Amino acid sequence: MEAALRIREEPLAANAPEHPDRVGAFLTGDEQVHPDEQVQRVAAGFFARADLEAVALVRDGRPEGLLTRGRLLVKLARNFGHELYARKPVSRIADQAPLVVPADAPLAGALERALARPSATVFDEVVVVSGRGAYLGHASVRELARQQGLVLERSRLERQVALTRARDLEEVERVRARFLAHATHELRSPVNAIAILAELVRMASERGSLEHVREKLPMLLRAAATLRGTVNNILDLSRLEAGRTEVHAAAVEVAPLVDEVASLARLLLGEKPVEVRAEIPPGLAVETDLQKLRQILVNLASNAAKFTERGAIVLRAEAVRDAVRLAVADTGCGIRAEDLPRLFVPFGQLEDAHTKSHAGTGLGLVISRSLATLLGGELTVASRRGEGTTFTLELPLRRT
Ligand SMILES: Nc1ncnc2c1ncn2[C@@H]1O[C@H](COP(=O)(O)OP(=O)(O)OP(=O)(O)O)[C@@H](O)[C@H]1O
Ligand SMILES: [Mg+2]
Repeated sequence: MEAALRIREEPLAANAPEHPDRVGAFLTGDEQVHPDEQVQRVAAGFFARADLEAVALVRDGRPEGLLTRGRLLVKLARNFGHELYARKPVSRIADQAPLVVPADAPLAGALERALARPSATVFDEVVVVSGRGAYLGHASVRELARQQGLVLERSRLERQVALTRARDLEEVERVRARFLAHATHELRSPVNAIAILAELVRMASERGSLEHVREKLPMLLRAAATLRGTVNNILDLSRLEAGRTEVHAAAVEVAPLVDEVASLARLLLGEKPVEVRAEIPPGLAVETDLQKLRQILVNLASNAAKFTERGAIVLRAEAVRDAVRLAVADTGCGIRAEDLPRLFVPFGQLEDAHTKSHAGTGLGLVISRSLATLLGGELTVASRRGEGTTFTLELPLRRT
């Protein structure tokens, strides 16, 4: 028997969904027969292909009806159905008024119409036509419903992603605003101090009171140094955040660098009864950016000196597999467990009677952690209130 059905050989091109919310993207087939074709020949076509769900009756390219497998079986199974219809044109048993939708109809609308039909079931098929009414294929209501579910799920996910992104942006904005407020505040105090002290020095020098000038000058210099430190910190941090910090790696001898940092800590400690020790295996070297490593260690050592009243500050280094681990340990005031997460937050100086009395911008650790990350390493902290604090910096032995 020659093929009664025109059956596609290629996969349906329309099934690559360019418009995933349009009916045309989800054709289940494009089989068609002439309306005058004999029922028995069409039935043979159905029995030959188990996956065939429906054929459209098409004359001159235009759909005139639709025959689904279910409808064919019902008609033939009726009393004498086969004898009655076998030689009749297929149009006698087909659905003469199937739901016809244009390919560019939105999924949701087509589904609504399909399910609103009096005899609707999810095993129905709809006929899909071009804008000019030419037959393109058929689509199962079940598949359209499944796709509509996916579309809804997708848009729900997209909405969620957009919402999260908006919230993240808000958070970034809030952090920026807070940063700016803090930075301005931190800058204003030393600037005011400098202005007042400079005025006092001017008055004293006009009066020829050299003694008063000498008395005020150290304070003026201290305020200027604080201001410079703050400005440098803020600039460092904004450069780091903007990703404008370059890394110049070279072999760095650890021992001399740590000795240098230890001397600085002793200087900062002044008269405090704190011993400073460096425990470095000789010959230990690491390939990294010397200036940045020094900056991290200076930050950690000056914190240790600032927050330790008695006991010791120990600077340690050791090689562990393909990394070098540097630690700055002190026997200072320590940090409460609940404050640890705030250490690396800009201007996160802890609201604590013990540390409030100490000068600082609360940027040192933020910068240090950013620098550590930039160098491919990690900066961590362990601390116990009243016992002491250890900051550990782990750096890769070699830059990759
Ligand atoms: N070794 C330490 N012992 C106890 N508390 C510390 C120690 N290091 C840091 N902290 C706490 O963490 C806070 C933040 O430290 P960070 O170095 O970022 O800022 P800072 O030292 O206050 O100011 P800056 O370093 O910018 O001059 C400190 O104010 C202090 O409360
Ligand atoms: Mg500090």
